[in-house]
Amino acid sequence: MRKLTDALFKSDQSLGQAGQPVEHDSARRQVAGSARYIDDMPEPAGLLHAAVGQADVAHGTLKSLQLDAVRTAAGVQRVISVADVPGHTDIGAVFGGDPVLAEDTILFHGQPLFAVAADSYEQARLAVKAAQWEIEPGEAILSVDQARAVGAEVGKPVHFRHGDADATLKNAPHQLSGRIQIGGQEHFYLEGQASLVIPEEDGGMLVYTSSQHPSEVQKLVAEVLGISFNKVTVDVRRMGGAFGGKESQAAQWACIAALLAHHTGRPVKIRLPRSVDMSATGKRHPFDNRWQLGFDDHGVIQAAKMEVNGFCGYSPDLSNAIVDRAMFHTDNAYFLGDSAIDGYRCLTHTVSNTAFRGFGGPQGMMTIEAAMDDIARHRGEDPLTIRKRNLYGQGERDVTPYQMTVEDNILPQLIERLETTSDYWQRRQAITEFNKTSPIIKKGLALTPVKFGISFTAKHLNQAGALVHIYTDGSIHLNHGGTEMGQGLFTKVAQIVALEFDVALETVQVSATRTDKVPNTSPTAASSGTDLNGKAAQNAARAIKQRLIEFACDHYGLRPDEVRFHAGKVTLGDNVIDFADLVQSAYLNRISLSATGYYRTPKLEWDAENGTGRPFLYFAYGASCSEVSIDTLTGEYSVDRVDVLHDVGDSINPALDIGQIEGGFIQGMGWLTSEELKWDDSGRLLSNSPANYKIPAIGDTPPVFNVDLFPQPNREDTVFKSKAVGEPPLMLPISVWCALRDAIASVSDYQLSPALDTPATPERVLFAIEALKGRPS
Ligand code: MTE
Ligand code: MOS
Repeated sequence: MRKLTDALFKSDQSLGQAGQPVEHDSARRQVAGSARYIDDMPEPAGLLHAAVGQADVAHGTLKSLQLDAVRTAAGVQRVISVADVPGHTDIGAVFGGDPVLAEDTILFHGQPLFAVAADSYEQARLAVKAAQWEIEPGEAILSVDQARAVGAEVGKPVHFRHGDADATLKNAPHQLSGRIQIGGQEHFYLEGQASLVIPEEDGGMLVYTSSQHPSEVQKLVAEVLGISFNKVTVDVRRMGGAFGGKESQAAQWACIAALLAHHTGRPVKIRLPRSVDMSATGKRHPFDNRWQLGFDDHGVIQAAKMEVNGFCGYSPDLSNAIVDRAMFHTDNAYFLGDSAIDGYRCLTHTVSNTAFRGFGGPQGMMTIEAAMDDIARHRGEDPLTIRKRNLYGQGERDVTPYQMTVEDNILPQLIERLETTSDYWQRRQAITEFNKTSPIIKKGLALTPVKFGISFTAKHLNQAGALVHIYTDGSIHLNHGGTEMGQGLFTKVAQIVALEFDVALETVQVSATRTDKVPNTSPTAASSGTDLNGKAAQNAARAIKQRLIEFACDHYGLRPDEVRFHAGKVTLGDNVIDFADLVQSAYLNRISLSATGYYRTPKLEWDAENGTGRPFLYFAYGASCSEVSIDTLTGEYSVDRVDVLHDVGDSINPALDIGQIEGGFIQGMGWLTSEELKWDDSGRLLSNSPANYKIPAIGDTPPVFNVDLFPQPNREDTVFKSKAVGEPPLMLPISVWCALRDAIASVSDYQLSPALDTPATPERVLFAIEALKGRPS
């Protein structure tokens, strides 16, 4: 099923270095159950277990909180509320607004009010139930319409302007408009939020946490305790999935455990039960988006007005950057002509929505892809034809709505190749024939592109550090600022270091991410883990390598070009010695075998005030073609075949990259089809368990699932000319949603374009079919 393109194997050595499809460093341990997560760690003596009590209204004033019965409950050692916080009470990631425990105002149903530490996990959870409180309910804002009507927002609106969109729109030969509501998504990391905090002798804290952002946890734990950052050390070996849900929102649980550890002087572990995790932590932002397009007879866009409204929840968290990224991707792969893009950050009394693979980009992209299909049906042409005509091109057609020139567009070639390998046009014809003679089952087909901007849009985050030691036996210890969440970052960075010295991968030992080894790190996010940490580690390795070369020249009387590292050996003029022997000899001659490495991304320039500049170093591209069948009597459907062609530049590890593409595709398909978040009218989350929230299972994998890599190096100077892969594949399954709409449209002989909000559950598909049947064409 999966094809690894031969051309991708750049290295002819079998050392498992960069370019090789070596397995994930934890793969075997994860399968065997011996990979350690927070809750698997040996428990320190005197460990206490924490639980939180949660508010039961969406918005209101906390009049009283009675915790006496909690204090006297079995096994309870300590109960804390916000009054027990010695330092800062606000743990907002970028802006304020996130109290570590509720203050007087209740901001969402499920907000943590107080926390308990008890001798056992069960005792902590039981004790929480003994609390009593009085909350005077206020009016809760639970929809974007409500938020926009009263002007409730967590950040200022942002506008991108290119040309005169209004005038061009009015003069365009054709106009269309639409609205799409895009659902949120629960991260559903297999390992829930968890932290273990151990008080140290100097008043400091050692924090083990499942977090994408150890440095921010360090900062916030120090701030809530009112101690300096150097008293807090954060250690992250791995996460059992994160997907953005542990970028900012792992910190609260570490802070709560640290507060309880501070008050008891004992180690404290917190591990959220799934229902608490789902009701207390933020999700992917739902969006409510509107678009208006003007285009010519060929469906070529001349003007675009787009409005994206993100449901941010009660606080800013990362929402400013997320709504910005939605705006950055309202063009997806297309030149919009004169454009006006507006982004609103709506406040709602729900959990504070947060980073989730794609970071708003997917919700922006969905809007223009919906519009592409509508233009095609309006013009009576195939949606793929319309998409191709609108792709970014040369000259005037290569500028985005935020005035960045698209220099690296490979989509015309990439799409052409996928069109051929997926047999698009022949299958299109076969499907049209099939639908004519099949009254109940209808098939649909779609091929959609992805163009995703790589770099943090907050410029300062685009930096990384690493630390490399070589021990006297020639073994290498590697540490860097990135975290491992399943994506394979540790493996890739180890491959990069192994290749620098041309030694076997086993020579390199990756170690847990720690704030006392590499300081002031960025979150592992924005797909930038390998780009940033890979370069930093490469720089550290090169520093040591340079010293080794200089030493060898000195010691053996050679020229630098006579010293070559090759396959675990070093060639020194006419002699060949083991890498370890050179290291040993360098040590005896007092050469430092340890170095830090640092990297910052070049070329970035973003003027947030005016909405112009170059927020991204480059774009990652991809396309996918999906075929579906729907049952027009029930709305049930199946995804029958998927073909993906994706751009990872020169792959550092094709096996891991294809794994990311497959996983991202399935996760995105879940978001667009089956994963439905439901709240009741009081703002309580109803979908709070795997029983009432449907993520894709193994059986939902398309029976034909061809994934291939587009073999072309990154034109920017990234590590081994690779490209980031973490997030972009999540947007490939937009083709599944478009194929569903295609199948539904067949009911009207492709005359009408069905409304289909997401997730496109069988229920929504059925309603869309019924609506088309009832509409005159
Ligand atoms: N893959 C796995 N297995 N687990 C995860 O939690 N997170 C995704 C992506 N792939 C994730 C994953 C997200 S949201 C991002 S931003 C990137 O991995 C982060 O890692 P990278 O920068 O090293 O690609
Ligand atoms: Mo990923 S959403 O940038 O953590």
